[in-house]
Amino acid sequence: MTTNAPIGVFDSGVGGLSVLHEIRTLLPNESLLYVADSGHVPYGEKSPEFIRERCRLIAAFLLERGAKALVLACNTATVAGVAELRELYPQLPVVGMEPAVKPAAAATRSGVVGVLATTGTLKSAKFAALLDRFASDVRVITQPCPGLVERIEAGDLDSAQTRALLQGFVAPLLAQGCDTLILGCTHYPFIKPLLQTLVPPSVSLIDTGAAVARQLQRLLDERGLLAVGPARPAHFWSSGDSAQMGKVLTLLLGDRSVIESF
Ligand code: DGL
Repeated sequence: MTTNAPIGVFDSGVGGLSVLHEIRTLLPNESLLYVADSGHVPYGEKSPEFIRERCRLIAAFLLERGAKALVLACNTATVAGVAELRELYPQLPVVGMEPAVKPAAAATRSGVVGVLATTGTLKSAKFAALLDRFASDVRVITQPCPGLVERIEAGDLDSAQTRALLQGFVAPLLAQGCDTLILGCTHYPFIKPLLQTLVPPSVSLIDTGAAVARQLQRLLDERGLLAVGPARPAHFWSSGDSAQMGKVLTLLLGDRSVIESF
C-alpha cells in the first residue's frame, strides 16, 4: 500500500461531504474517493442487514480503486456496518462515526442534552452503549428527524418547509431545557446556519466531522500511511441521480467535479 493511495469515504448520500470537507481541510495532501449511495437514501429507516450489505458493496468498490483507508461518513452506516467491515479487512484503517455524546455531556451546563439523529442510529445498541458509558450524569433527549435528510439531499437548506420541519424537531428539546444539541447525522452540519436561527445563541451545536478527520490522521500516521502529496482531484460516484448530486456538491462545497455512476 503506497502512502499516496486514496482514502475511500462514503455515506447514504451527500451528508458525508461534511466529513470530506473536514478531511480535506486537515489533510490537504490526501487524495479522496467518495461514494454517495443516493439510490438508497435515507439509510435512517432501513434495516441493519440492508445497510450492512450496502457497506460491503461500497467498501469492495473503493478497495478495488486502491483505497488505503475507509471512512464511514455516516452515523447510521457505522452503527450497522463498521464492525463487519473491520472483521472483513483487519489490516485496513476503518474510521466510523458516532454522535458526540462524550463532548456534549462535558459541555452542558443545564444538564440536558438533545440528540438529533436518524431512527436507525438512535435505536441501535451501539448508541445505547454510548449513553451508558458517557451520559450517566446528564439527561439525554433523543429526537429522530424523519424527512430532514431528504430536504438536504434536494439541496433545500433554508426553505420555509425545511425551517418548519426543523423547528418541529428542535422546539420540544428547547422546551425541556437542552443547552447542547448533538448533530448525530452527517447531513445536519449543512443546515447548521438554519438551526442557529432557531435556537438561542447560548445553545451549543456539536458535530463530529473534525474529530473524525483527526482520528483518520492518527490511524494513517501510526501506519506510516500519511500522503506526501500533492493530492489528486477527488473522484465522486452516486448510485442515484448523478446530475442532482453534482448540483448539490457544488452548492455544499463549491466543487464542480463530475459525478460518475456507482
Ligand atoms: N448521513 C447519515 C448519518 O450520518 C444517514 C442519513 C440517512 O441516510 O438517513 O446518519
